[in-house]
Amino acid sequence: MPLTPDINQVRTWFPALASEFAYLENAGGSQVPGTVADAICGYMTSSYVQLGAGYAQSLRASATVEAAHAFMETFMNAQGLGKIVLGPSTTALSHILAGAYGETVKPGDEFIIAETSHESNAGPWEKLKSRGAVVHVWKVDPETFECSLESLRALLNERTRIVAFPHVSNILGQIVDVPAIVQLVHSVGAKVVVDGVAYAPHHAIDVAAWGVDWYVFSAYKVYGPHMAVLFGRTEAFAEIVGPNHFFIPANSVPHKFELGGISHEACAGLLALRPYLQFLAGRHVDDRETIVKAFQVMERLEAPPARRLVEYLRSKPGVRLIGAQGTDSVGTVSFVFAGKSSAAIVAEVDRHPLGIRYGHMYAYRLVTALGIPPEDGVVRVSVVHYNTLAEIERLIAVFETVLTH
Ligand SMILES: Cc1ncc(COP(=O)(O)O)c(C=O)c1O
Repeated sequence: MPLTPDINQVRTWFPALASEFAYLENAGGSQVPGTVADAICGYMTSSYVQLGAGYAQSLRASATVEAAHAFMETFMNAQGLGKIVLGPSTTALSHILAGAYGETVKPGDEFIIAETSHESNAGPWEKLKSRGAVVHVWKVDPETFECSLESLRALLNERTRIVAFPHVSNILGQIVDVPAIVQLVHSVGAKVVVDGVAYAPHHAIDVAAWGVDWYVFSAYKVYGPHMAVLFGRTEAFAEIVGPNHFFIPANSVPHKFELGGISHEACAGLLALRPYLQFLAGRHVDDRETIVKAFQVMERLEAPPARRLVEYLRSKPGVRLIGAQGTDSVGTVSFVFAGKSSAAIVAEVDRHPLGIRYGHMYAYRLVTALGIPPEDGVVRVSVVHYNTLAEIERLIAVFETVLTH
């Protein structure tokens, strides 16, 4: 187990954290280490040319993009299992994936979407109805906030192609049992598409251990630049053809799925996460162990401020936590307050140097299923490893004046 570095040392890596503003809306997007910002700038001023030509700058550009794919393979523990597709956002990659499945739909094929989903992993699958697919909603239990294995079992059959669900809901914060779902879904010959966006900032991704077919997350919420990453297993890619130009061969993956190319400068930024992970892990090697250890450190740093926030909200009369907030939750904490709108609460907090948010956060179906008006939604505070107990105490001090009748 690596030693946990001092939180002040951790924060010095992030130029944005030098101000007194407390970034507590990390589930919306995280801050980046200075190395990431510098690498983007450096790339744009030294190798900003097209890939695939023979001159030095182009060779450097090609190597950067290739290295970013390889880094993400290690990051997700995907070596030898399949391929990494990079793209502008999880929403875009999910549309590309569902669209490619759409080309293969036969009438009566079934798709299942979890009600806890962010819309990016629900809407693209629901659209397949227009191709003759049957789309089922895997309902959330409003008491436990879970989509249960029993209710999934009742929806699955030999016509099921895909089960799409979030590893962690961006509202609820609780981690679902991915391997158990994968086992059940594979038992009928279907595949899973896991939205890992709300999980990836908090814990190391391990597609090998979980047995997932497809797993997608957004790098800009994991201390990186604005881009997203999709892992697909070799057997899963074999079911579909990517939508890129007709003359690009079907087996040219990831190119067939990376429409019009990807952000090369973002690839350079992504690669510059490595020194930060090495710093956290306390070892100067770019390998899987460094990633695992870095996330162990993040888990230890995140737990105290997240726990303090949950304990405070639990103790506050009138607060209804939206999410189980048990030991297997990440630091994404949502609530509603009796007698005051989420909008009004956040408007008052906005007068202070504290960044939080309210709304349905594009988990529109979930919020509606829980009986919460989606326009007002929930108040969400999202903590990651670089947040401090002092920031949470400042937020609590403001909540003390706001969460009153
Ligand atoms: C759980 C979850 N899934 C998907 C997304 C969509 O990600 P992107 O903005 O990369 O499309 C978000 C964004 O907030 C999210 O929180």
